[in-house]
Amino acid sequence: MVLKDRVAIVTGASSGIGRGIAVEFAREGAKVVVADVQEAPKQGKYHEQDVTTPTVEEIEKLGAEGLFIQTDMSDDSQVERLIQAAVAHFGELDILVNNAGIHIPGTSQDITIADWDKVVGVNLRGIFVATKLAIPHLTKSQYGRIIQIASVHAFGGGGGPAYASAKAALVNMVRDTALEVGGYGVTSNAICPGYIETAIQDYLTPDQIQEASERTPIPRFGLPRDIGRASVFLASDDAEWITGASLLVDGGYVAGL
Ligand SMILES: NC(=O)c1ccc[n+]([C@@H]2O[C@H](COP(=O)([O-])OP(=O)(O)OC[C@H]3O[C@@H](n4cnc5c(N)ncnc54)[C@H](O)[C@@H]3O)[C@@H](O)[C@H]2O)c1
Repeated sequence: MVLKDRVAIVTGASSGIGRGIAVEFAREGAKVVVADVQEAPKQGKYHEQDVTTPTVEEIEKLGAEGLFIQTDMSDDSQVERLIQAAVAHFGELDILVNNAGIHIPGTSQDITIADWDKVVGVNLRGIFVATKLAIPHLTKSQYGRIIQIASVHAFGGGGGPAYASAKAALVNMVRDTALEVGGYGVTSNAICPGYIETAIQDYLTPDQIQEASERTPIPRFGLPRDIGRASVFLASDDAEWITGASLLVDGGYVAGL
């Protein structure tokens, strides 16, 4: 168990990738705070149709401790309450995974300015706020880790003007944070997933799903577990000298761009 007794917050952990990360952390002995706007997992049109149990139940089945804290990551006061409540409950904070994210499809002409603010509010601003408020706790930990979940859309067009911009910003944010926290032995990295089987893909047509799958050199979509295992690695002692990095976990998708 490479994360025994480490305390982690995983945002957006009721469903999809965040749930996959929370479960893999629990498998490795971590205590996991599940932060999400809703406790029930999302069921997708294409993927995760049968997922019904709250993530904390899955964590407890693995013999680990979990705590759900309802949080809207775009609301500063809720993010502040999340960090305080997590530290109050578990006594410390070792790992922050900013995974919660939303996508509103469309070009600059399709989406409204309010849509842009909404996407950037969760996918970038909320991540800054959570990181800012978590750092004073992470720097007290011997094992401080920050992991931001970005996307392959950080590296090319096609993700939409708000989503792609926010994801690209995270790739540089982790470098900036790495400089800030490196002296405390805290690492700051991003994971950039390719197409993963979650409900976020509901906006795609079956043809687009097929096309994305065919463009992935390892011929399958990723699973939340794939991102979960990469997160375990970056959170573990084996990755203590890796910082400022963005790890593609994409089946080779970007290699083919
Ligand atoms: N699935 C993919 O193909 C893919 C690819 C690249 C990157 N990503 C990124 O991975 C992350 C997770 O995506 P996913 O595919 O698991 O999505 P998902 O929609 O399946 O799950 C997202 C979770 O975040 C929660 N959430 C949404 N808004 C929130 C908010 N304001 N505050 C707190 N929680 C909120 C949702 O309730 C849900 O539980 C996102 O940042 C997404 O951009 C996903």
